[in-house]
Amino acid sequence: MVTIDFDMIPARDTVPADRREAILADPGFGVHFTDHMVTMRWSEGSGWHDARLEPYGSFTFDPATSVLHYGQELFEGLKAYRQDNGAVVLFRPEVNAARFNASARRMAMPEMPEEVFVKALELLAAQDQDWVPTTPGTSLYLRPFMIATQRGLGFSHPSTSYLFCVIASPAAAYFGGGARPRALTVWLSENYSRAAPGGTGFAKVGGNYGGALAASREATERGCDQVVWLDAAERTWVEEMGGMNLFFVHAPEGAPPRIMTPRLTGTLLPGVTRDSLIRLAPTLGIEAGEGRISTAQWREQSAAGELTETFACGTAAVMAPVGRVRGVSGGWTIGDGEPGPVTMRLREELLGIQYGLLPDPFTWIHKVC
Ligand code: COI
Repeated sequence: MVTIDFDMIPARDTVPADRREAILADPGFGVHFTDHMVTMRWSEGSGWHDARLEPYGSFTFDPATSVLHYGQELFEGLKAYRQDNGAVVLFRPEVNAARFNASARRMAMPEMPEEVFVKALELLAAQDQDWVPTTPGTSLYLRPFMIATQRGLGFSHPSTSYLFCVIASPAAAYFGGGARPRALTVWLSENYSRAAPGGTGFAKVGGNYGGALAASREATERGCDQVVWLDAAERTWVEEMGGMNLFFVHAPEGAPPRIMTPRLTGTLLPGVTRDSLIRLAPTLGIEAGEGRISTAQWREQSAAGELTETFACGTAAVMAPVGRVRGVSGGWTIGDGEPGPVTMRLREELLGIQYGLLPDPFTWIHKVC
């Protein structure tokens, strides 16, 4: 067990309580930030050191700092929830810690002991607990990230120093909507690829997101909410959505419901919500598995009424139903184009666990305070 002592430097100028309450009443997503952040430095020879909880604030960087040029960066996303009894909890933070380290290995960056990563989250969530909103569906989104800080433009080896930071932002549902989310219209990206075998698709790194923006803009220009990525080799198999995993529901009349999500081939993100739903579904009598589905199968099975629902899932998005698909060669509607019963049942159960309204059979909830 590795322990690191954090210097606690509380902010002198915090956001006034009335202003904070106004923000929490309508937080949006990723717009407002709390009073504090956690920082920690890594350097060759010293390892992780200089851990602090300190006032939220700007960094000053030399223009030759390597992350600004070569994108050696990674991040995570998870939420602190205000449970029904007032407790502030995290959801499976150790899974984020493991994925942080998987991304770090791929990016030739230093790993962080799981307990240090989780401690950083706990400290920030506890310090800024007044920023955890109470309205149903809202939470405090935590964004840990790590950047390469070595000064210099040489590209012969990974950076010799890094900065780790966690910031926190009160958040409403990513796609808006309260108890009943609206169904999304999605755009099949047939010209761009997100990730190729051997690349960084499975890692949570900024480059995967920056490279997706042109396709996202294409989707928006066509009136769609999100882009759907296909495999880079055959442009046939559905992989994931922009920043979210996808599930396909087969629940034709009279048959037991079944959900399927694309297998982790190395080119898609191993989502924490994705993993949680695969485990949770069987407890509700819903068979769950990994597989693959082509765009043609998605269209044909939807038309035949075999594939009855599709939904996206992720930490920010939670679970977002997909009602319509569009692409260069036309589009189709899934079911009646509205959120389906299997999606809504799973969503109710997942949110119920996260908000402490339902039992937590997998001990996923990690109490902070
Ligand atoms: C998350 O769900 O935590 C993400 O990082 C997705 C991002 C597009 C907001």
